[in-house]
Amino acid sequence: MDKLLIDDPALHASALAGLTASPKTLEAKWFYDAAGSALFERITELPEYYPTRTEAAILRAGTDRLAAAVPDDAALVELGSGASVKTRILLDRLDHLAAYVPIDISATFLAQVAEGLRAAYPALPILPVTGDFMSPVTLPPRIADRPKVAFFPGSTIGNLEPADATALLARIRDWPGIARFILGVDLVKDPATLTAAYDDAAGVTAAFNLNLLHRLNREAGADFDPDGFAHEARWNADAARIEMHLVSRHAQTVRLGDTEIAFAAGESIHTENSHKYTRDSLAGLAGVAGWRIADWMTDPDDLFAVSILEPAP
Ligand code: SAH
Ligand code: AVI
Repeated sequence: MDKLLIDDPALHASALAGLTASPKTLEAKWFYDAAGSALFERITELPEYYPTRTEAAILRAGTDRLAAAVPDDAALVELGSGASVKTRILLDRLDHLAAYVPIDISATFLAQVAEGLRAAYPALPILPVTGDFMSPVTLPPRIADRPKVAFFPGSTIGNLEPADATALLARIRDWPGIARFILGVDLVKDPATLTAAYDDAAGVTAAFNLNLLHRLNREAGADFDPDGFAHEARWNADAARIEMHLVSRHAQTVRLGDTEIAFAAGESIHTENSHKYTRDSLAGLAGVAGWRIADWMTDPDDLFAVSILEPAP
């Protein structure tokens, strides 16, 4: 048997743990290699994927309220910054920022985006940090003495298990000088709208999901046949979340390094959760972590919300 190359031991270890568990899982953070980040950008432009354009409209309509929440000379620290497209709505309005710190796990994409931002905002220090926001992140020493405003748009918080989301909110609550947390969350709504947003007609979300298997083949010593798996989006009403799955089209065996992994026909790999919120459910999650909702902005159809959190007394 040929030896399959393992370029990324952390990816391999995570996939081995997930694919030998029952039910099988893969961690959603691995979606974002260069190909995955590019596919996500295409998702944001899909007609079915309402969150990005809706959140951008809320931010545009709310710039005065947002600006009032950001102290002079604050550093704006964004989690999972991606293409930083919506951030520009804030950067265009906030001319008194000390720095912008985008944090993302997708290293190459982050470096390209930071270059673009430096060209667009030459007077603003752009201090990118490549890292996993699920672990404590070391912030640039340059912003140590600055007030800080965390920005976590896109409802990326929804991709975390509730306990991990609370832990992240609590870690940020402990940042020295933390003043506010601007948090975007997707709202609970009719299942048909939700399911369509995660199973678009053009198949871009399917390609995003299946890119995980291509990535495991490229970097983690796997030999998946991606055509042997089907993309599926399921609404889990009890957990208020959309789940993405890759369902094995037939019985098959896949290698991951030295391990053989058997799939039954119809067996799924659970690849992502995307939790949806109400104002009350978010207040509960944030409250446990020491935050209260100071402002809550939505669109006319109540699809999405941008919340300004402040440290609870
Ligand atoms: N904020 C952007 C992008 C959202 S996509 C928007 O609202 O459109 C989610 C982003 O979070 C991606 O850029 C991805 O690379 C990043 N990401 C996902 N998991 C991460 C993790 N654990 N640590 C750091 N970044 C992560
Ligand atoms: C990044 N995150 C908020 C997206 C979401 O909607 O949960 C990721 C995504 N998965 C499928 N489509 C988009």
